Amino acid sequence: MAAFYDPFMQSLEGDLLHHRQFLLNSAQGKILEVGAGTGVNFTLYPKHAEVYAIEPSKPMFKRAMKKIPPGSNIRIYNTSIEEVENIQEIPAAFDTIVSMLVLCTVKNLDTTIEIYKRLLRPGGLLLVLEHIHASNSLYGKFQTLINPIWRPFADGCNLTRRQDISLKTAGFIPANETYFRLGTDWYRAIMQLNEKKSHRLKSG
Ligand SMILES: C[S@@+](CC[C@H](N)C(=O)[O-])C[C@H]1O[C@@H](n2cnc3c(N)ncnc32)[C@H](O)[C@@H]1O
Repeated sequence: MAAFYDPFMQSLEGDLLHHRQFLLNSAQGKILEVGAGTGVNFTLYPKHAEVYAIEPSKPMFKRAMKKIPPGSNIRIYNTSIEEVENIQEIPAAFDTIVSMLVLCTVKNLDTTIEIYKRLLRPGGLLLVLEHIHASNSLYGKFQTLINPIWRPFADGCNLTRRQDISLKTAGFIPANETYFRLGTDWYRAIMQLNEKKSHRLKSG
């Protein structure tokens, strides 16, 4: 997948670029980039941004390493979101979490969102760019139909998730959000944690 990822994404990346850049313009403080893939975001961060990128796939990780701009403050670790809290060199809390095209792929969406909540400092920003299920449309029904075939082919990527709804249900509120079409439905958002709701959920 790593070898095909950039060519496969090329036709979309022209349109995704300004969404990526819009979000990364808001990245501040200590930044965690989850599932950095081949490192497509690395040249888009503000100069001197303090980025801790994680990527569990070794081939993706190796490609991403090569994309780190010389002199930048970006480092990458070959680990997953589930393991990140066990890595000593990685901070325990972040001012920004970058989550682009990754919530479609993680094994457990709700568990990952809970980890985001633990890792994000109060007032911190979650920057989200995800393709989402085109619910309530014929295309959405098609996605549901082909998802079992698509998933293994596309390295675990799900076409049927509504990451926007899961994030909001978990207590993230969008300071800025937009829905757009690009082949399928997409969601871009700058989100913050609703501390009261997050506390209510934690205490059951
Ligand atoms: C579709 S790629 C997106 C790459 C990059 N974020 C981008 O915007 O192009 C999804 C990436 O998420 C990574 N990933 C999958 N499960 C993960 C996990 N549990 N923790 C962190 N990253 C994960 C995959 O290895 C893959 O590189």
